[in-house]
Amino acid sequence: MIDHDDRDWWRTAVIYQVYPRSFADADGDGAGDLRGITDRLGHVAGLGADAVWLSPFYPSPQVDGGYDVADYRDVDPVYGTLEDAQALFERAHDLGVRVIVDLVPNHCSRDHDLFRTALAAPPGSAERAMFHFRAGRGPRGDLPPNDWVSMFGGPAWTRTTDAEDQPGQWYLHLFDPGQPDWNWDEPRVRAEFELTLRFWLDRGVDGFRVDVCDAMVKAPGLPDWPYPTHGVVESVGGRMPPMWDQEGIHEIFRSWRRLLDDYAGTRILCAEAWLPPERTARIVRPDEMHQAFNFTYLSLPWDATAIRDAVVTSMAADDAVGAPTTWVLSNHDVMRHASRYGYEGRVELEAGVGADDPQPDQALGLRRARAATLLMLALPGSAYLYQGEELGLPEVTTLPDSVRRDPVWERSGHSIRGRDGCRVPLPWVADGPCFGFSVSGDAWLPQPGYFAGYAVDVQNGDPRSTLTMYRRALALRKELALGAGTVQWLEIAPEVVAWVNCRTIAVGNLGPKPVRLPAGEVLISSDAAVATGTMLPPDTSVWMTVPTSADI
Ligand code: NOJ
Repeated sequence: MIDHDDRDWWRTAVIYQVYPRSFADADGDGAGDLRGITDRLGHVAGLGADAVWLSPFYPSPQVDGGYDVADYRDVDPVYGTLEDAQALFERAHDLGVRVIVDLVPNHCSRDHDLFRTALAAPPGSAERAMFHFRAGRGPRGDLPPNDWVSMFGGPAWTRTTDAEDQPGQWYLHLFDPGQPDWNWDEPRVRAEFELTLRFWLDRGVDGFRVDVCDAMVKAPGLPDWPYPTHGVVESVGGRMPPMWDQEGIHEIFRSWRRLLDDYAGTRILCAEAWLPPERTARIVRPDEMHQAFNFTYLSLPWDATAIRDAVVTSMAADDAVGAPTTWVLSNHDVMRHASRYGYEGRVELEAGVGADDPQPDQALGLRRARAATLLMLALPGSAYLYQGEELGLPEVTTLPDSVRRDPVWERSGHSIRGRDGCRVPLPWVADGPCFGFSVSGDAWLPQPGYFAGYAVDVQNGDPRSTLTMYRRALALRKELALGAGTVQWLEIAPEVVAWVNCRTIAVGNLGPKPVRLPAGEVLISSDAAVATGTMLPPDTSVWMTVPTSADI
């Protein structure tokens, strides 16, 4: 059971992301579903996670993996029913696991009733005011209203046809044309979302991960912006881009916070905003959201100085507003970290990899990924895990182009492969249809044969497996109260990061040579062979006890 008196649970929580389409398929149609998740919640509880975050399972034409929501207050039949959702929430709570659902407030689906109604209504109508409809530029209005580009490629505007089948106004979509942006200046949009928040809170959810929350409010007049807007968003000449991080978002977050605070226990908001630490910190001020993903940290190459700097900067920014930092290494949008670290230097996080691209060094990637995870879990604050990372699952970099579903692939004219490689269904058993993902043997994305070696049943009970390392790390993290601690840096060598947190030393060697470990007992290592050694090999991290005699 969850403890409603634990009001600060989110400050230290480890939250496991489930991507419903790829977690477990109970009905055998090849797409994961809510019953599949409920059946496998024991895995999440057994891992030691405090909560699950479910990516969208709402009715959707699935133009963007469900981030195109046609009805915010129902379940897509592919995923099940509202009763299935309720059963999932209850089972999770029985297991002591909280539930966070996805809120997608920047845009809906072009199949949403209110957008259909707007399309059918004339320019200037109240119905169209719920979205951003504008006349085009140029003598015939056939140029988009401004120069904004879609995050998936091409213009951020699509032209409509009017009642006489003539070209009409354009509508704004920062993502796919199937995802029209809401107009948050419109009170009826706010009222809609308050209904949605209450709908899920009344059904017992413990919080919301808020999709691209920094894009909800646009600068008045929608001015041109001829600068890049991908990745962690930076200001230019002191100005934020007109579609990101506008001041008006904060007042909306405050109103949501008040709404959530009226519910029993602590229900939380977690911001998805690709902003630098000093900007995300403004979203987690005491009366706004609780958490914001630290994407600066996620974006780092395997480099000790970069990691140290990012931890210092992020924690300083968040400390200043009294918020914990929320660490994350993988999610459904970026190349899995077990593959990312198999390349040298920075990689394009969302671009994907095809069979004809340079391939990552899988062994190196996994080695570094395990080391990176131990470092992350030794930091104070909250941490998000993405399904499959506890298995050391790599990105699938050899998917046939014909099976790709990410809209980026089409929108980029087949130049960017996109994010399907991190969304391939999970392997539960080495032997069995779809490695246990689906009873029928169908999977919406094909799983490579080598997934057998990563299956949960292969790793269970193996002391050297990645799964065992995650379970032990989560248990130790809780036992040692690392989530609630502080960071006191140790200087060991330039390519080594090391700190003390709650009388536990975390050391990571990101350099090419072994380094001598400080005195103390090794509690856990990313390389099982190091448990008793005195030298820390390259690309390895450990947690150690601080010797009682040491003055730290
Ligand atoms: C962020 C989500 O994580 C991603 O999957 C989606 O494509 C965009 N937001 C648009 O909703």
